[in-house]
This record gives sequence, C-alpha cells and structure tokens, in this order.
Amino acid sequence: MERGSFGTKIGVVLATAGSAVGLGNIWRFPYITGEDGGAAFIVVYLVAVAVLGIPGMVAEFVVGRHGAANAPRAYSLVGGKAWSIVGYMGVLTSVIILGFYSVVAGWCVQYLFASLLGQLNGDAAYVKNYFQQFSTDPIKPLLWTIVFIILTHLVVVRGVRRGIEKVSNVLMPVLFVLLLLIVVASCMLPDAGKGVVFLFKPDFSKVTHSVMFDALGQAFFSLSLGTACLCTYASYFSRQTNLLKSAGQIAAIDTIIAILAGLMIFPAALSVGINPDSGPSLIFITLPNVFQQAFPPVLGYFVGVLFYVLLALAALTSTISQHEIGTAMFFEQMHISRRKGALIETVLAIAIGILCSLSCGAVDLEIAGMSVLSFCDFLTSNILLPLGSFFTCILVGWMAPQKLVRDEVTNWGTTSRALYKVWLLLVRYVSPVSIALVFLHQLNII
Ligand code: PFF
Repeated sequence: MERGSFGTKIGVVLATAGSAVGLGNIWRFPYITGEDGGAAFIVVYLVAVAVLGIPGMVAEFVVGRHGAANAPRAYSLVGGKAWSIVGYMGVLTSVIILGFYSVVAGWCVQYLFASLLGQLNGDAAYVKNYFQQFSTDPIKPLLWTIVFIILTHLVVVRGVRRGIEKVSNVLMPVLFVLLLLIVVASCMLPDAGKGVVFLFKPDFSKVTHSVMFDALGQAFFSLSLGTACLCTYASYFSRQTNLLKSAGQIAAIDTIIAILAGLMIFPAALSVGINPDSGPSLIFITLPNVFQQAFPPVLGYFVGVLFYVLLALAALTSTISQHEIGTAMFFEQMHISRRKGALIETVLAIAIGILCSLSCGAVDLEIAGMSVLSFCDFLTSNILLPLGSFFTCILVGWMAPQKLVRDEVTNWGTTSRALYKVWLLLVRYVSPVSIALVFLHQLNII
C-alpha cells in the first residue's frame, strides 16, 4: 500500500504548524490570557512551551517517523504491541476533538456570513442575544458543523501532498497576512498602548497555581500534543527532516501567532474600555462589540469579516490534521482505500458533532452535569491529552531502544549531540513529572 509523504521541508513545517495554529491560538489563548491576568500568564506559557511542549513534540515525532505508519502501528513498532493502546487512545481523542472543534468552527463560519451581511451590528445586548439564539438553534449550527467536517474530508481524501500540504502552503501565509492586518489596525487605535502593556508587562503576583496549570494545558492543546497528531504527521517526514529544529520552528510559529492574536484583541478591547475577561464567549460576544465601537463603520466591517475568515481558515488546517489521524489508521489497518478510511472518520466525527451541537441548548443532553460539548472538551484537554503525552514521554524516554531514539533525534549522528542530551533529560524527567502534576491537578487530586 502506497503511503503519502510531505514533498518539501517548508511543507513539513507549514502543514504541522497548520495543525498547531487554530482555534487554540485565536480563541482559547486570548480568553485564557484575559482571565489569567495577561503578561504573567504569557511568561509561564512560554516556559511551558519550551520545557514541556517542544520536547514532547520531538518525542511524538520520533515514534511517527520511526514507525512510518498510522499511530497505533507506529507505537507498537517502537515499544511493542501493548503500546499500540497509546496510538488507539490518540485516534479516539482526535475524533472526539474533531467532533466538538467542528461545532465551534461552524459557529465561526456562521459569524463570517453574519458579519459579511452586517447582521452583527447592534448594541451589546443584541450581540449577546444573537449568540444565544444562534448557538441554541437546533438546525443552523448543526448544518455548519456538518459542512465543516465535509470540507475537511474533501481536503483529506486528496492525500498528504496534494491535499494537506498544498492547502497548508496556501492557507498559512494567508492567515499570517490577515492576522497582521488586524493587528496593525488594532494597535493604531487611541489608547492601544494599554493592551500592549497588559500583554507584555508582567505582574508576577498574579501567578497562582491555577495560572501555571492553565498555561500547561493550553500548551498541550495549542501544540496538538498528546493526540497522535504529531506522530501521524511525522510518519510522512523524510529522513532529512531535523526533528529538533522542526519542533522549534513549529512551536515558534504557534507561539508568535498566539501572541499576535493577543495583540489583535487586547489593544482594541482596552481602547474602548471593554475588559477582555469574558471567557470562552470572548470572540462571539465581546469582540463584535469591540470591532463596532473601536473602528469607524467601514473599517470595523472589514476587520470583523477578516477576523472570522481568519478563524475559519485556522480551524480548517487544524481539523484536517485531526481527521488525518483516524483516516490513516482506518485506511492502513483495515486495508481499505484512503477514501473509505476518510469516510469512516467523517461519519464518526459527524455523529459526535451532532451530539455536541445539539447539547448547546437545542436538546437537554448532558454528561456528568456538562453539555456534551463541554464534556468532550474536558475529557480530551484535561484527561486524554495529558495521558497521551505522558505515555509518549515514558515510551521514548525510558522504554524504547535508546539507539533508535538517539538516531532519530540526531538524524543518525549528523546533528548536535549536546542538544540531544538536554532533550533526553527533559523527556525523561521534566515532562513526565510536569504532566503528572497537571493531570493530578485537573482531577482535583492535588
Ligand atoms: N492545536 C489546535 C489548536 O490550537 O487549535 C487544536 C488541535 C489540533 C488539537 C489537532 C489536537 C489536534 F490533534
């Protein structure tokens, strides 16, 4: 069976960064930064990305590139049959994420059309009401969810090089330019400096335990760590790809985009005196108001439309990667065509997406006292992602043949051995211990 591969070095970086950059950067990062006090949170987040994120990414890359197969098979090739469970867990995690993530991505598409048609103009109460009515409607959000998953499907069936790589090579630069345009508009507003201070002048008295744990959780989600996504993409890397360097570049792109998203939102919000601490609804309730109040009408219109285009595109490059994890597994393990494998993944994601969408108010659907959407978010981000990454670090740091690991990380002895040693230390000790702490905290055990 012919496996795909990425065609160019830049394709590797852009496709993997396309997975990392998504709603996590433009929706989750700003609202958590807003809730957790700004710059101090960002400092902790940067440390988390450096000591936990990058080493964890490289660990997943090692499994994927060595295995050169879908996640369950790659894990079993590196660690033995029992380790395939970690790969299966990654596939399960990714299909759940694809289900609920597509619901929020669908909201972004609805908001894109609403802002294009000028339907988001109105006072704060109107915008709030608009969101509540839309998100609890039984049909509209559901249709957008399905449309988004089908769009993702259409890219994924085209394959690794012609689908994923090609789309990422176009969308990532577009996304960056759109983001820069809005950042410039936002930073030129009167009093925009307040937002810049909020983002860059840390007040370390605000660093509490929960800020530290939020930063670690955000780093997982944002870097697509712990879902076997990075492992699946690495199975398409060539032997020339430098794993440490690529992980550093991808983490840098992901972090720069998250900070730019902050620079897009906070100067505009603080310039009109709106506090950006409204939580997850920040981009659907607070921002439409900010855009209307901060900019003259025509500019406000364009900024609003561009913002939701940006969100939808960023979400698409991430849903593609979530979809690919299951597609690769079904297609290779069940010996069926890639098209059929993708279809199975799409049907599963739509089923989960429907439940998540309806649970937002249209139907009384709850698990453990949460809407299905919140439950899926909690289950994946707080439990399955940390577990996936923890076991990957244990496998690569302790269980796998060390020659195999050293060869992968140093590209068969051609790159720095000193860096390898630092990485090994982080993967063996620092990462598993930090992940265990996050995990235990999330479960309220510590
Ligand atoms: N990293 C993506 C984001 O920040 O939006 C979310 C994500 C993508 C999580 C792919 C998991 C995944 F496998």
